[in-house]
Formats: sequence, C-alpha cells, structure tokens
Amino acid sequence: MARLVAAGLERREARWLVEEFGDDPDALEAATCRRLKGEPLQYVIGHWPFRNLDLDLDERVLIPRPETEELVDVALQELAAGNQSAPLVLDLGCGSGAIGLSLLTELGERGIRASLVALDASLEALANARANALKHGLHAVSFVESDWFGSLDPTLRGRFDLIVANPPYVSEDEFTHLEPVLRYEPRDALVASDANGVGGFSDLARIIREAFDWLGPTGVLVLEHGDLQGEAVQCAAKTAGYRECHDVFDIAGHPRVLVARK
Ligand SMILES: C[S@@+](CC[C@H](N)C(=O)[O-])C[C@H]1O[C@@H](n2cnc3c(N)ncnc32)[C@H](O)[C@@H]1O
Repeated sequence: MARLVAAGLERREARWLVEEFGDDPDALEAATCRRLKGEPLQYVIGHWPFRNLDLDLDERVLIPRPETEELVDVALQELAAGNQSAPLVLDLGCGSGAIGLSLLTELGERGIRASLVALDASLEALANARANALKHGLHAVSFVESDWFGSLDPTLRGRFDLIVANPPYVSEDEFTHLEPVLRYEPRDALVASDANGVGGFSDLARIIREAFDWLGPTGVLVLEHGDLQGEAVQCAAKTAGYRECHDVFDIAGHPRVLVARK
C-alpha cells in the first residue's frame, strides 16, 4: 500500500484498490494507473454501494450520487402515503438502475410487491441496469429503450403509482466548468439544454409536463433537480396541473427534489 501512496494515491483509495485487487499484482497495477490518470474510483473498482445494493458500474452509466439516495427516501415516503399493496413504478433515465432497483428491494423488504419499468434512451445503460437486476435477483422489472415517454407502451398511460427520475439537468455552460473527473461520465447523462430561460431545464420541463398523463389518479412524480431550478420546477408543475406540489430540501438548505401529486 505504501508504494501506491508514494505513487500519488490517497491512503483511503490505495486501501480500497488493495482490498479489491490485492491478489492480482497486474490488476492492481492497471487499476492504480487508471486512477492516477484521473478515472473515477467507482469505475476503476467496477462496483459501488447505493443504499442496500452493491451496483456494478462502468463508464456506460452515471455514478449514482449520495443525494439520489435521499430521493429514494422521499419516494418511499410518498408511496407509503398512497398505501398501495402492489404499486407500479417507472424509473425514467434509470442508468445503473440505482433508484428503481433500490425501490423494488426496499419495498420488498416491507412486504410490498412493486413492479418496475426501468427506462433509458441508452441501450448501454439498460444493459448495465439489467445486469444489476440479475445480480440482485430482482425479476419484477421490464426494461424499455425510449426517449422519455416516447416509446412507452400506451396501455400504461394513467397507470403509474410513482414516477421517479434523476434526469440530466446540468447546462452546457456549467458542464464546461465541471471538475475533470466528471468528464468520464456519459455526457448525455448529465447535460440538458436550457428551457424557459433556465439553464439545463429542458428534460425536467418535458418530464414534468408529460408525466402527468402517465400517472394514475393519485400517482406521484418524484424528480431530482439542480439547486437553482427549484422555482422553475414548482412553476412547471403548477402549469402542468398537479394537485399538490412541494420541494424537498437537502441538508445544505437547497431545494433538490420535486414531489408533485396528481
Ligand atoms: C443523471 S443520469 C441518472 C441515472 C440514474 N437514474 C441515477 O440516478 O444514478 C440520467 C439518465 O437519463 C438518461 N437519459 C438522458 N436523456 C434521456 C432521454 N431523452 N430519454 C430517456 N433517458 C434519457 C441517461 O442515459 C442517464 O442514464
């Protein structure tokens, strides 16, 4: 481990790499080189915890963020309020499957047999999400390649109890100023064009508008957004006709998750 630290790795990261690849000197060497070149630790290790799941990850998908773990808490609370015994859930832009697969697992632990539709525009992300579902023995999932709601089975319109999403919401301008480590992640998972005069707002605006028709009569949309987009998501949700909407704030006091109930 001392050798890896001397080569430039932080002690904590060196320990992780040794735990992961310590039995195979060539693999340890290759992993150290990748990390020293700036590749995110999560991709180098190839898996990472998200809530109760150990998710396989690579450069095909966004690395799930700790704040998205909080979105799962919000979604669980909202579903509990709805009291359904077999809810139908849509994970829009599922990436690695972090949100939807966590919901399936944790609802299952509470005796609730949810079904999940995991949707993404990226076939590569869907392959990663499917592998994670298999890894964790989660079978009540269907995977759909779609540009948001565009190719979703029309018979599902008006049937979802919960729609969750952590869509791209970083503007082009913000993207050019991001830390270099974020450049390893798929650009299409992060960047959205501007809309309604708000940077990075186009996917959020579209999801808020279109989700309304796909929710059941008391269904709820739980949507992560950027900390400067709180006012715009509230305004878009009111315009779209949701009966009740509010934002959930992060520990820094920023609005980060829209909850909009039909
Ligand atoms: C910020 S990532 C979120 C991934 C995962 N849900 C998470 O929280 O870790 C956004 C995801 O949306 C997908 N995406 C981007 N544009 C899309 C579109 N037009 N239709 C469907 N999915 C899209 C990306 O491929 C990416 O997987």
